[in-house]
Amino acid sequence: MDQAFGLKQMSNSGSGAQRRKIGRPPVVISVSSGKGGVGKTNVVLNTAIALRDMGKRVLILDADMGLANIDVMLGIAPKYNIAHVLSGQKGIREVVVQGPKGIIILPASSGTTELLNMGESEKLFLLEEMEEFGDEIDVMLIDNSAGISDNVLYFNIAAGHRVVVVTSEPTSITDAYALIKILVTRHKIKDFSLLVNQVRDMQEGQRVFKQLARVTDRFLGALSLDYLGCIFKDENVSKAICQQQALIEIYPESEASRAIREVASRILNMVNSRGEVKQDGNIKFFWQHLFLAWGKEG
Ligand SMILES: Nc1ncnc2c1ncn2[C@@H]1O[C@H](COP(=O)(O)OP(=O)(O)OP(=O)(O)O)[C@@H](O)[C@H]1O
Ligand SMILES: [Mg+2]
Repeated sequence: MDQAFGLKQMSNSGSGAQRRKIGRPPVVISVSSGKGGVGKTNVVLNTAIALRDMGKRVLILDADMGLANIDVMLGIAPKYNIAHVLSGQKGIREVVVQGPKGIIILPASSGTTELLNMGESEKLFLLEEMEEFGDEIDVMLIDNSAGISDNVLYFNIAAGHRVVVVTSEPTSITDAYALIKILVTRHKIKDFSLLVNQVRDMQEGQRVFKQLARVTDRFLGALSLDYLGCIFKDENVSKAICQQQALIEIYPESEASRAIREVASRILNMVNSRGEVKQDGNIKFFWQHLFLAWGKEG
């Protein structure tokens, strides 16, 4: 797999019709969960590929500081990360790596500490790099690490859309609630989409959604919690992970792949209906908000 991947190449090799129309900024969707191991990375990776199959140009920001992140899932070893961009050693095009089907991965993991300590000129440099880069993608998906660390909160605040992944385990539901609660009460974030993973049947997904919606409604007041759907517990998920390949590529007809394609089309609808023209969903605003959030804490 190419280490340094020219994005221009990708736009040329893909269909020309995929080029985003001017005035339609890329949308930024942050995927998080509270509890670890619920399936964020798997969802992000496969949704990215499904969106790519639907003609969207997708970037994954691998913001997971843990071990089980996108590069491990795909068996790739990125040489550089966002810190190399900030230090001026590399341009963003040299840092991103190509994933399956032409999705692009921006490794942020070990660069995140550097991001926290960035000076004004470095921020500006990154903003400029990202702005130019933003012209070549339609959707940016952020694969967050587990928990409610400052980084997870910042990425959620800065993103235009927030997807929270849960399973039916009570610990997952309470951790998802804790994440939503902090974002609502401390940061005035009001809209979330819920994705229930590893369910036995559709009813289980609905039940978890209703349960969480009831509690947020009761204790957090007016907020919008959409149901993005559910993904069945499917042994093909771990089989694909063991083979270090994307589920949707090697088991496209599995239950989980079908569900992920549905999730991807709902994301597209969501993006089309409320996101694409909104400024706060796009890449430049994402980074600006991120800097603002960091600035406030620092
Ligand atoms: N739909 C599913 N069916 C069966 N197993 C699943 C499913 N989704 C995820 N898993 C299992 O859960 C494990 C964790 O998945 P994943 O790494 O995507 O979670 P995560 O939320 O990103 O974890 P972390 O919080 O550590 O980043 C995987 O190894 C996989 O085996
Ligand atoms: Mg993960």
